[in-house]
Amino acid sequence: MNIGIIGSGNIGATAARLFASVGHEVAVSNSRGPESLGPLVEEIGPRARAATVEEAAGFGDVVLVAMPFFAYETLPADRLSGKVVVDAMNYYAGRDGEIEFNGLSSSEAVARHLPGSRVVKAFNTMYYETLRAEGRSSAPVEERLVLFVAGDEEEAKSVVSRLIEEIGFTPVDTGSLSDSHKQEPGSPIYNAPMHRQQARETLAGID
Ligand SMILES: NC(=O)c1ccc[n+]([C@@H]2O[C@H](COP(=O)([O-])OP(=O)(O)OC[C@H]3O[C@@H](n4cnc5c(N)ncnc54)[C@H](OP(=O)(O)O)[C@@H]3O)[C@@H](O)[C@H]2O)c1
Repeated sequence: MNIGIIGSGNIGATAARLFASVGHEVAVSNSRGPESLGPLVEEIGPRARAATVEEAAGFGDVVLVAMPFFAYETLPADRLSGKVVVDAMNYYAGRDGEIEFNGLSSSEAVARHLPGSRVVKAFNTMYYETLRAEGRSSAPVEERLVLFVAGDEEEAKSVVSRLIEEIGFTPVDTGSLSDSHKQEPGSPIYNAPMHRQQARETLAGID
C-alpha cells in the first residue's frame, strides 16, 4: 500500500518507519519541505521518499496526519478527497490556541475540513516511544497493546485496523467520529497502554 505521512516528527516518523518495515511504501512530508527529510528517508531505506504535503496527500491510498492540530485547516482537501485519512492529532489548547468546537470532536472538525475524505481517528492515543518499541507481530491479539480507531465508515476503519495489526498492535473500535471524543486527551484510554480486555472494560465506562 502507498501511505502518505503529513507531519513527520515524533509520531509521523515512527509510523512511517513501522509501515515501511512491514512492506508499505511511504511518502513523508513536513512544513519545511522535502530537503529537510533526507536523513529520515535515508534511514528508512528504499521504501521511503520525501515529499511536499501535496505530494504525500496525492501519493497515499492512506494518509496519516500527525502535525500540530492548529494547522489542520492547511490540509489539502482536494488532494485528500477519496482517501482514507488517519487523524493522529490531538488538540491541546495550550499548544493549539483556543478553538471553539461547538460540540464536535476534534476529528469531526477535521472531517468537516475534508468533506471528500474517509477520516479515521487512530494512532493518537499512544506515546510515540511506545508505538516505536511495543509492537508484537508474533504475539496473540490478547497480548498486544491496543490502538483505538473511530470513524463513520466501516471499510475505512478496516483498512486502518489491518495496518495496526500488521505492525504488531490490536485495534479496538471506539465508534463513530462523534464517539472519537473518547480517544481525546483526558480520557481514561488516552496515553494509557492496555490490552484488549482492559480496553473494552474501560471503554464501557466512558459516555
Ligand atoms: N508525540 C506523541 O507521542 C504523540 C502521540 C500521538 C499523537 N500525537 C499527536 O500527533 C501530532 C504530532 O505530534 P508530534 O509529537 O509528532 O509532533 P512533532 O514531533 O513536533 O512533529 C510535528 C510534525 O508536523 C509538521 N508540521 C507542522 N506544521 C505543519 C504543517 N502546516 N503542514 C505539514 N506538516 C506540519 C512538522 O514539520 P516541521 O518540523 O518541518 O515544522 C513536524 O514534522 C500532534 O497533534 C500530537 O498531539 C503525538
